[in-house]
Amino acid sequence: MQIEQPYELVLFGGLGDLALRKLFPALYLLDLDKRLPQGRIIAVGRKTLKLNAVMTKIKQAIFSHVDERYQDDACWQRFSERLQYVCLDVQQADAYQALASELEETCPNRLFYLATASYLYADIVVSLHHNQLIQASSKVVLEKPIGHDLASAKEINKSVAEYFSEEQIYRIDHYLGKETVQNLMVLRFANSIFESQWNQKYIDHIQISISESLGVEKRAGFYEQVGAFRDMMQNHLLQLLCIVAMEPPAKMEPDAVRDEKVKVIKALRPIEGKDIQDKVIRGQYNQGLSEGKPVPSYRNEEGVDGQSQTETFVAMKVEIENWRWAGVPFYLRTGKRLAERACEIVVQFKEIPHSIFAMQHKKTMANKLIFRLQPDEGIRLQLCEKKIGSGMNVRPMILSLNPDNPSQDFIRLQGNDNDSKNKTVRVPEAYERLLFDALASNPTLFLRDDELMQAWDWVDPILAAWQESEDSPESYTAGTWGPAEATLLLARDGRLWNENN
Ligand code: BG6
Repeated sequence: MQIEQPYELVLFGGLGDLALRKLFPALYLLDLDKRLPQGRIIAVGRKTLKLNAVMTKIKQAIFSHVDERYQDDACWQRFSERLQYVCLDVQQADAYQALASELEETCPNRLFYLATASYLYADIVVSLHHNQLIQASSKVVLEKPIGHDLASAKEINKSVAEYFSEEQIYRIDHYLGKETVQNLMVLRFANSIFESQWNQKYIDHIQISISESLGVEKRAGFYEQVGAFRDMMQNHLLQLLCIVAMEPPAKMEPDAVRDEKVKVIKALRPIEGKDIQDKVIRGQYNQGLSEGKPVPSYRNEEGVDGQSQTETFVAMKVEIENWRWAGVPFYLRTGKRLAERACEIVVQFKEIPHSIFAMQHKKTMANKLIFRLQPDEGIRLQLCEKKIGSGMNVRPMILSLNPDNPSQDFIRLQGNDNDSKNKTVRVPEAYERLLFDALASNPTLFLRDDELMQAWDWVDPILAAWQESEDSPESYTAGTWGPAEATLLLARDGRLWNENN
């Protein structure tokens, strides 16, 4: 699909970490694939810089984040001709004149991407309005986390809604743009074999884990305010949970999908009072080794308060109160400076009721369906097979569906269509997919306002309890899998995290 109409894309936070690491590389890749509509990209930043210096920064960022195979000078040349830079203080309404003079009155479509801290969103939309920069067809993309609790999210929503209708607002969660997440929907809703198993009768529990080996890097200012719970749990992990647990939508249409996701969030068992201590573990990394190199503790990172109570790790046990999922725990976990960078959804099936073979570890041999979102995107199904040779010995075997990274250990299941035979297909980046969808006016993979509010409503008691608590986060050594309490969270239920796969 091509977008025929030209667009002007205005990127607030245009030289920030997100823009440089993710947004510009994604826009460049869209351009490389000739999917980016005509029109200019205007980066808005606070620093006074010449356009040349900005271009150099953006080029460096793109070329250090996209694979060598896609670093194309001709494409960069074409892409760079679209770029403009406007320096302004977003809290100064008058300053927006500088932006107004860069925008073409004749361009029919504008997309404003707000990649700043969310407390600035209200100021930005008010100033855009006062400077008459919002057209009837304009759209706004809001980066997460939107607000820091339910009340602040409501405030932001209200301010944005004064100038943009719900159809014009795209609340982004880039995990929904990841290829494997969409594949999870296709796998669930385009195959009939899974549906009969996808419930409390056959599933023992589900794990969703996003681990990062990096620390806080240069984002201490942001992270100190936000912490792992607001940065990852309230959005990315909850969204993944929704996709795994939702009922089949009647249609692949924005509201049909989002209605089902909202129902999941509404069915989450509240975690309040004493449950918070029992079911939610927060941690903070101490010094240790990351990828073989010594790294400082979180409190010794540049820009972090030496007494910081900010959590860099969260693990929790979540339950969904409905017929499909009653009694099936969902264990969610995320953290920085963990043993490796990985993101996995593990659907652990129940063990067989009775074994006729000599299986010593009936439980660990139970079937598992693993959706690996990164680093090597793919899907694996752990089954049991006979060990070749005498006797009837059983061993685990893995069937793997891995789009980009076949490994000798796994059988590769290839698509049957002529298109996918003998071709390497580039797996699009999450932001590429979502930026395209926003430009193409497809909000299916974006959050609706009620979804966001429900999510905040559910997490608010946990955040409020931590705010009042005098306890510190549990410490863990950098380069490990987090605090021992997170292991205990599962061990108490006779289970283990799926690690070292
Ligand atoms: C962002 C968080 O939303 O997601 C970052 O703000 C985190 O802290 C990042 O590092 C992880 O995204 P990905 O796609 O690299 O797993």
